[in-house]
This record gives sequence, structure tokens and C-alpha cells, in this order.
Amino acid sequence: MNSPKGADFIVVANRLPVDLERLPDGTQKWKHSPGGLVSALAPFLRNHTGAWVGWPGVPDIDVDEFTDEGMRLHPIALSSTEVRDYYEGFSNATLWPLYHDVVEPPVFDRGWWDAYVKVNHRFADACAQVAAPGATVWVQDYQLQLVPAVLREQRPDLRIGFFLHIPFPPVELFMQLPWRAEIIRGLLGADLVGFHRPGGAQNFLWLARRLTGLEPSRGSVGVRTRPGVVHVGDRPVRVGAFPISIDSDSLDATARRKDVVEHTRRVRADLGNPKKIILGVDRLDYTKGIDLRLNALHELLHEGRVDPAEVAMVQLATPSRERVEHYQRMRGDIERMVGRINGEFATVGRPVVHYLHQSVQRDELVAFFAAADVMLVTPLRDGMNLVCKEYVACRYDLGGALVLSEFAGAAAELTSAFLVNPHDLDGVKNAMQDALTLDPAEGRRRMRALRRQVLTHNVDRWARSFLEALGSEQTELVNQ
Ligand code: ADP
Ligand code: F6P
Repeated sequence: MNSPKGADFIVVANRLPVDLERLPDGTQKWKHSPGGLVSALAPFLRNHTGAWVGWPGVPDIDVDEFTDEGMRLHPIALSSTEVRDYYEGFSNATLWPLYHDVVEPPVFDRGWWDAYVKVNHRFADACAQVAAPGATVWVQDYQLQLVPAVLREQRPDLRIGFFLHIPFPPVELFMQLPWRAEIIRGLLGADLVGFHRPGGAQNFLWLARRLTGLEPSRGSVGVRTRPGVVHVGDRPVRVGAFPISIDSDSLDATARRKDVVEHTRRVRADLGNPKKIILGVDRLDYTKGIDLRLNALHELLHEGRVDPAEVAMVQLATPSRERVEHYQRMRGDIERMVGRINGEFATVGRPVVHYLHQSVQRDELVAFFAAADVMLVTPLRDGMNLVCKEYVACRYDLGGALVLSEFAGAAAELTSAFLVNPHDLDGVKNAMQDALTLDPAEGRRRMRALRRQVLTHNVDRWARSFLEALGSEQTELVNQ
């Protein structure tokens, strides 16, 4: 509820659920923000009155608070320099690669750290202003790891939860961070710290012991078992695993809609009704393994194991973090690879790879999912990965096959997928070929099992289990 005293429930994330876009004619419009965090939380929050504190996605702009789909949005202004140092720098060129198994080398820059501290204080100050007495504040993701402690200093009356949407790294990697103790202390300002997987929670507990001298509980943390606990003075901080999910029922219903079924048919026709459609859907990020799936396809075509006349691959890639160097390099590599495959194997009017460096509308995305015979989700490391769950939710027809990296958090739940080690190119190629030649009865068996998991573990269940654990005085997490 929002009252004159402030909001009782607040989500704070780097981005608002909508992003301001400046158009070439000087006008501006709001659009859906990119990424899994917003995909997961926005549908949940639409059904619960609350406030959202976040950045509107463009620098050097002051936007007044406003209401969108029942949510009160509180924009936080960032200058161009802050976007460069806090967002592109410390968040996405230090923490992002460090937390994703140093797939690219993280940069440790003291100026970026200073900006991260300053911006985290600004987010915490805004929450302190917006929150009603005794409110619940749910802090999201790696960009805001100092907010729990800063906010607690100002508002000890609040109940504060923190959830990390990306992997929490192995301790040996986290220990590289020059500001490692500060980050752990920042997170310990929360009443509940949540990760996707038990391994992340376990790593955090180990680091809390090593870096703060506190005595965390020693039992192992599981998804359905007891959380870990660290006592900061007489305040217990609980630490648990909460695998995030999607609004599965709504995607299932969208995929069944007549107009979307028609759209699905059109997608196949537009691609020339190939025997098999392969699909990739990602933010254009180097952790997603887009390059390796293109390499795998290239080799399969070369070896004659895949016939270019029978297969079309669609790669949808949302533009992301375009000013960060790693992202620029990767985009060039991927686009060269697409050109190479088409150069060698396409015929006029019949490319093998259809590459869209664009975000597509929800209904169109569902039509692509429903049309795809093989879905490739091959990250080198991913906290959860929602795309694979979205694909499964759209396959009410029990068609399609999912090739999924073992290094996505979702692999622990989607065990009936073709699980692959993305570092093993031959393994990926074999799994792609198996998926392309899958016996339909076996495909239905696999998809049924995948759907059972995805449809019974939706985002509401995830959010409820986190919030119940945050609100409860018991040490046991609610049943997941
Ligand atoms: P991340 O949070 O790292 O971006 P996820 O897989 O968890 O990865 O979430 C990505 C979200 O963005 C999903 O909801 C997915 O459907 C959406 N998405 C990714 N690429 C596109 C695209 N090209 N067009 C529209 N939505 C996209
Ligand atoms: O889920 C990971 C995540 O980084 C979110 O925190 C973020 O909102 C999303 O992906 C998209 O990234 P960005 O906000 O940097 O465009």
C-alpha cells in the first residue's frame, strides 16, 4: 500500500521496469526495460501495490515520480559520468565478469568503486524517503550490494531483503576483489540475502566468516531446507536459495491464443517453411555463448551433418551495454560469424542464420518460441536464465527440444533438457544433432517433464517464498 506516510512495499533495482528512450526527433517514450530481472518482477508487482525505485535508463535527466500499471515509480537520476563509472564500469566491467567466472577479465578501478559507493548511497537515501515506517524494502541485484547496510543505518525500522539475480562466484574468484569486505558488509545489512542456487548461499556464508570474522551457521543450505544464518550483533541475517522463475501461466495462455498460433505459422512461412527451425534469444552478452552455438552450427554444416537447405537458425539479440568494450568486441565477432555462415551456406533469398540485433514484442517472441524445433541456451555461466523457462512455458503442444548449458542455474531444475557443457564444442554439436533428429515421442516425454517443473514453479511462488522467509520469525524457508 502507498500512504501519505510512504510505501509499505518497495522494490529497488538499478533500472525501473520501464526505460526512457530518446527518439531521433527529440521526443521520448517509455519502453519495457531489458533483462530477466524486469521480466520476472514486473508481472509479480503488477498484482501487488507497491513502489519501485530505479534509474530511468538515460543519463542526465530528472524525471518526477509517476504511476505505471499500478506501481509508483521513483526515478533516480544518474549523470553521464556516473553511468560510465558506476553502471558501465564497476557494475558491468568489474562485478559482471568477476561474478560470471571471469569469462572476461574484470577491471579493478578505484574511481569506479568510488562512484559505486556514491550511487548506492543515493539509492539508499531515496528508499529511506519513500518507505513508510516498518515497510519492507526488497533490494535487487549486483549493482546495489551496499544499499542494505546504508539503508539500515538510516532506517533500522525497515525489513530489508536482498536478492542476487546473477551467480555468486566461487570464493577464490570473489577474493580478487579489492573491496570484498565492503561488499559482504553491505549485504549483511539485509535481514535476508537470497541467491538462485545453494552454492551461491554457501559461498556467501564462507566469505562472511573469512572477511568479517562473524560466525555463520555451518550446516549446508538447500532450496527446500533450512537457511544459513549469520548473527550481526543480535540481529540474525538469513541466507537462502530461491530459484527465480517466470509468469508461466500467462506465457502458456499467450502461446495458445488464436492470433499467436497464426503468428507462429507465419514465422515458419517467413523462414521458407524449413524442416527445422533453431532459435537463440538473448541479451547480446558474452556470457550467453552465442558465439559458440554459431561455431557449433558452422562445423555441423561443414561436416555435412546439418543440411543448409533444411535448417534455418534465428538469433534474436537484444542490444546491451553497448559502450562497454567487451560487448563491442563480442558483437563484432558474432556478426562476422553470421556473415561467414551465410556467405558459405546460404542461397539467394535463403540465409541459414537470421540475425536480429533487436528486441521484439512479447507476442512475437512467443510465436518464435512456439515455432522453434530446437532452442539453444548455451551460456558459459548464467545465474538462472529465464529464456529456457519461457520456451518451455510456450510449448503446450509438447513440441520442440531444449539444448541447455549445465552452467545456467536453470539446469538444476530442467533436467530433461539436452544438457551440455558449453566448453565442449563436440558435446554441443552432438546435442544439437540429437535435438534436430529427436524422435517425436521422446521429445514429448521430455517436454512434458520440463513443463511440469516450469508450470508448478512460477515467479509468484518464488516471490512469495522469498517474502515469507523475509517476514517470518521462523528459521525455515517456506516450501519451494
Ligand atoms: P538476462 O537477465 O541476463 O538478460 P534472462 O534469460 O534471465 O537473461 O532474461 C532475459 C529476458 O529478456 C527474458 O525475459 C527474454 O525473453 C528477454 N529477451 C531476451 N532477448 C530478447 C529479444 N531479442 N527480444 C525480446 N525479449 C528478449
Ligand atoms: O539479470 C541480470 C541483469 O543484469 C539485471 O540486473 C539487469 O536489469 C538486466 O540483466 C539487464 O541488464 P542492464 O540493466 O545492464 O541492461
